[in-house]
Amino acid sequence: MFVSTLTTVTDEVLAEIAAEKVLRRTSEVFLIFGMGSQFDHLILQAISALGVFAIVADPASVTADDVKLVDPIGIILSGGPASAVTDPPPFDQQIFDLGIPILGICLGFQMWAQHIGAHIVPGHEYGQHILMRIGECVLLEGLPDASMVLESHGECVLPGSTAITHAETTKAAVAVASAGHLWGVQFHPEVPDTDYGQRIFENFCFKISGAKDVFPAEDVAAVKVAELKREIGTGKVLLALSGGSDSAVAGYLLKAAVPGQIKGVYIKGVDRPDDEAHVLDFFGHQPWLELEIIDAKDLFVVALAGIEGMPDKRVAVRGVYKEVLETAARAYGANFIAQGTLYTDLSESGLGHTSGVAKAQIKQHHNTNLDFYLPELIPLADQVKDTARNIGRQLGVPKALLTRHPFPGPGLVVRIEGEITAEKLAMARQSDAIFISELHATGLYQEVWQAGTVVTQSITTTTKGDGSGSGPVLALWAVTSTKGFTARAAELPWDFMRAVMKRIINEVVGVGSVVYRISDKPPSTIEWG
Ligand code: XMP
Repeated sequence: MFVSTLTTVTDEVLAEIAAEKVLRRTSEVFLIFGMGSQFDHLILQAISALGVFAIVADPASVTADDVKLVDPIGIILSGGPASAVTDPPPFDQQIFDLGIPILGICLGFQMWAQHIGAHIVPGHEYGQHILMRIGECVLLEGLPDASMVLESHGECVLPGSTAITHAETTKAAVAVASAGHLWGVQFHPEVPDTDYGQRIFENFCFKISGAKDVFPAEDVAAVKVAELKREIGTGKVLLALSGGSDSAVAGYLLKAAVPGQIKGVYIKGVDRPDDEAHVLDFFGHQPWLELEIIDAKDLFVVALAGIEGMPDKRVAVRGVYKEVLETAARAYGANFIAQGTLYTDLSESGLGHTSGVAKAQIKQHHNTNLDFYLPELIPLADQVKDTARNIGRQLGVPKALLTRHPFPGPGLVVRIEGEITAEKLAMARQSDAIFISELHATGLYQEVWQAGTVVTQSITTTTKGDGSGSGPVLALWAVTSTKGFTARAAELPWDFMRAVMKRIINEVVGVGSVVYRISDKPPSTIEWG
């Protein structure tokens, strides 16, 4: 689909793999089976960063015989939303018996454990937990006795399973285990919330699988610019700009590839008062790009009228967004539509690497899979927030664009519960402006990765000026994160929280009370809706 995946092993595919090995001066390859995990691509990024050659494979179509033909020195199975017990994903179990070192992550671990006779039982852990080492284990070499790991599972391997020769635990689950050539971790080494995840991959690739060759990391920006140049040729590109860092990075990649062949459009929707000015500041006077601001607020408001549920509101926003973008593309005579969509957005929308294993749709992002009438360019489809920002830094994207907090494409729509009304919109706008300006004023803006406010449907009783009243509960949230796939509630100083609360209660008409959301991702997502 967007990111190449091994689905069938033909002579042609084997020749391609052989050619890639020659290029990388290696005889070694790893296979990563994506079992429907939101994080599958992070595993590829993590082990590619070690300089080894890895390919993502589709578990529903790549068989043990195919694996023998590709002859990997190690195999990684990602996690996924399925249950190893009740609805095991399609996967040729004979792959477990080939004797090739396997690292199973979460569901991938449970799958091999079950295959060799261990029991999988209900047991959930979400968020960061402490991993205590209890013995010598080559997979954990170089790790301290205690470190943080990110867990996100509803089932786990039954502690004490006799099939497993070595095990270390977090509180509820067998966290690390091995049985011969089979290795497993119940947590996610591929996310930055796991302190020593990269070391675990390093141990698996070099110490367990015996990799010897390393290939220097390629210059990702240069490769992308060359690809865009080749694909676009003399064509014209309509670029959707949001004022955020991702579409800016996509724009700068296009600037390097096809300057003068780009029109940027900013679709003004249910956004914040300063968004338009921000886009004008950075893109209004660029010699390589023609900018148009399209005010589609009324179209969005009409499409959203009467809609209460968050998924339905997302669908309504997608419809208007697609229509406006395609109309602009036709008017410009574009040959391509380009967006700054990240792998995170695709993955959460159920897309990404091709896999016959179902991937959960966490939420339908406003700009994914829109099936435009023109070919779509998504130069950051294989990147996440921090890696996209790195590309941006390399290309000279202004710091103020790169360091601006992310903001969701559907705008304040996903921060207002129930029907969008003028009154709730005013509350969302004003409270966001207060929260963000206070974060700036106190130097906390860069300490947090993203922050926002939500107008909830809960109504609290108030007492103001000796009278009784009521008003909605307004929720504040702020998170720290690196990639956006996972996040932690930011621990903001109490004095700061009280100051923000006071301003909101006094300045935003109608708010009943102010609360702070303290849950992490997982299990919550960053946005409320
Ligand atoms: P969640 O809420 O899914 O958010 O944990 C991850 C990041 O994505 C942003 N987000 C969106 N961005 N279109 C976007 O362009 C969307 O529909 C959308 N929904 C969420 C969110 O603000 C966060 O940075």
